[in-house]
Amino acid sequence: MASSPTLFVLLIFTVTGTAIVELTPNFFHQSLINHHKNSKPNIPYKTQFFPQLLDHFTFKPQSYKIFNQKYLINKKYWDHGSPIFVYTGNEGDIEWFAANTGFMLDIAPKFRALLVFIEHRFYGESLPFGKDSYKSAETLGYLNSQQALADFAVLIRSLKQNLSSEASPVVVFGGSYGGMLAAWFRLKYPHVAIGAVASSAPIVQFDEIIPWTSFYDAVSQDYKNASLNCYEVIKGSWAELQALSAQRDGLAKISRIFRTCKNLQSMYSARDWLWKAFVYTAMGNYPTEANFVMPLPAYPVTKMCKIIDGFPSKTTKRNRVIAAAKVYYNYTGTTKCFNLENGTDAHGLQGWNWQACTEMVMPLSTSNESMFPPLSFEIEELGKFCMNRYGVMPRPHWITTEFGGYRIEKVLKKFGSNIIFSNGMQDPWSRGGVLKNISGSIVALVTEKGAHHVDFRFAKKDDPDWLVEQRRQEIGIIQRWIDDYYADF
Ligand SMILES: *[C@@H]1O[C@H](CO)[C@@H](O)[C@H](O)[C@H]1NC(C)=O
Ligand SMILES: *[C@@H]1O[C@H](CO)[C@@H](O)[C@H](O)[C@H]1NC(C)=O
Ligand SMILES: *[C@@H]1O[C@H](CO)[C@@H](O)[C@H](O)[C@H]1NC(C)=O
Ligand SMILES: *[C@@H]1O[C@H](CO)[C@@H](O)[C@H](O)[C@H]1NC(C)=O
Ligand SMILES: *[C@@H]1O[C@H](CO)[C@@H](O)[C@H](O)[C@H]1NC(C)=O
Ligand SMILES: *[C@@H]1O[C@H](CO)[C@@H](O)[C@H](O)[C@H]1NC(C)=O
Repeated sequence: MASSPTLFVLLIFTVTGTAIVELTPNFFHQSLINHHKNSKPNIPYKTQFFPQLLDHFTFKPQSYKIFNQKYLINKKYWDHGSPIFVYTGNEGDIEWFAANTGFMLDIAPKFRALLVFIEHRFYGESLPFGKDSYKSAETLGYLNSQQALADFAVLIRSLKQNLSSEASPVVVFGGSYGGMLAAWFRLKYPHVAIGAVASSAPIVQFDEIIPWTSFYDAVSQDYKNASLNCYEVIKGSWAELQALSAQRDGLAKISRIFRTCKNLQSMYSARDWLWKAFVYTAMGNYPTEANFVMPLPAYPVTKMCKIIDGFPSKTTKRNRVIAAAKVYYNYTGTTKCFNLENGTDAHGLQGWNWQACTEMVMPLSTSNESMFPPLSFEIEELGKFCMNRYGVMPRPHWITTEFGGYRIEKVLKKFGSNIIFSNGMQDPWSRGGVLKNISGSIVALVTEKGAHHVDFRFAKKDDPDWLVEQRRQEIGIIQRWIDDYYADF
C-alpha cells in the first residue's frame, strides 16, 4: 500500500471544512471536520425522522427504498398559518448547523416562524445504508444535490400537510454549500419556497466562471491587509520548511518544532497543517470571539499577524508561522501536542469526497501572488484519484448545466426572484459568490469585513454596526417577501 508522497497534492475543500488531501494511503484521515463529533451542541430543537424516498428520479422497484431523514423542529414561536423557516442542510451533522445558525432562532419571534433544520442525505444520522453508506459508488450514487433538493421539497410538503398549514409561506436559509442549496431550491422549487437567504454560497465557484486562483488570492489578501510583512513571512516560510525537510533527520526536526504527538511520516503533513490554519482563520475572521471550526479570538487574522510581526527579524519565518498557527490550533491553551497526520475520520468528509469526485468540482489553484506554495488543479489528476477511489469520473460541467452559473446576472434578472446572496469579503468563498445586485428582488449584501456566513451567527451585544445593519436589511427583505405573499393570497 505504501506510496511515496508525490508533489501533486489534491485539495478538496468542503465549504464548511477543508480537507487537505494528499495522494497517500492515509489521506482520508487527514481531515478536519472534527467539530461534528466533538461537541454536542445544546440547541432548542426537537429531533424527528422522516421516512424519505431513496431515489426521486427513477421509478424502478428498487428505488422505492425508504431511509430515515433527520430533521430538527422548533414550534415555540409558531402560530398556525404563520411562516415556516427551513434550513437546507449541508455536508455534516444538522445539529452543528443549527448551533451555528442562531440568526434563524433570533428572528423567529418577530415572524412567529416555525423553524425546521433538515439534514442532508448521507450526512449526520441520515445515512440511507447505515454503516455501509460510503461503501462504494453503488450506495454513494444516491448522494447528490438534486436528490437532496428533492428531499427538502418532499419533506416540507409532508410537514405542511401534517400541520394542516399548506398556506404557510416557506423561506429557505442556508450557509456555504447549504446556501447553494437554498438558492438552487428557490430556483427549482419556487412553488415550495417564496424566497431564499443564501449566505456565503459560492454558486459560481464552478467550471471556468471565475479564475481558479481567486480563492487563495483572497486568503492571501486578508493577511496582506493585516500586514504586508505578515504576508511575506508566510509566503517565505514554505521554502524554509522544504529546506529543513531535506536535512538529515529533517522529519524528526520538523516533528519537534511543530510539537507533533507522533513523528511525522511526511513533511507535507506539516505544510498542510499550516495551510489549513491560514485558510480556516480567514474563513472564520469574525469580529467577535467565536467557536466556528475551532475556538478563535475576534479578528484572528490580525492576531496571527501580530504574532508574526512581533518576533525579532532574525527569527526564522517557519518558527514565526508555527507560532501564528497556534492561534488556530491552541487558542484555548489546552492542547498538549498536535496531531498533524491523523485527524478525526469524520463521516462528513467521506460524503464530501464523493460529491467532489462527481458533481461538486470546484477548481482551486494558486497564483504567484498568493502566499501559498504552487498548487495546480488538473482535472485529469482528480479523475485518476476518483477512478481509483470510487471508479467514477468527475463531471466538471454538470453543476453549471443543471443550475447555471455563466452570465448569472443576465439569466436571473429575467428569470428568478426573492434571493438574498450575502457575503463577507474576508471569506475566500466570497469570490465564488454573487457579489452584485441582480434585480430588485435578487439582492447581494456584501460586507467588507464579514467572514464565512457571519450574518447567520447568533447576534451578540458587541457585534459591529455593519453586521447589525446587514441583518437588519435581511430581516426587512424577508418581511417584504412575506407581506407580498399574503397580499397576493
Ligand atoms: C407526517 O405524518 C406521517 C404519518 O404519520 C409521517 O409518516 C411523516 O413522517 C410526517 N411527516 C413529517 C415531515 O414529519
Ligand atoms: C484590503 O484593504 C484595502 C485597502 O484598505 C481595501 O480596499 C480592501 O477592501 C481590503 N480587502 C480585504 C479583503 O480586507
Ligand atoms: C498550548 O497552549 C498552552 C498555554 O499557552 C501551552 O502551555 C501549550 O504548550 C500549548 N501547546 C502546544 C502544543 O504548543
Ligand atoms: C494514521 O492512521 C493510519 C490508519 O489508521 C495508521 O496506519 C497510521 O499509522 C496512523 N499514523 C499515525 C502517525 O498515527
Ligand atoms: C506572476 O506571474 C505573472 C505572469 O504569469 C508575471 O507577469 C508577474 O510578474 C509574476 N509576479 C510575481 C510577483 O512573480
Ligand atoms: C444591493 O441593493 C441593496 C439595496 O436594496 C443595497 O443595500 C446593497 O448595497 C446593494 N448591493 C451591492 C453589492 O451593491
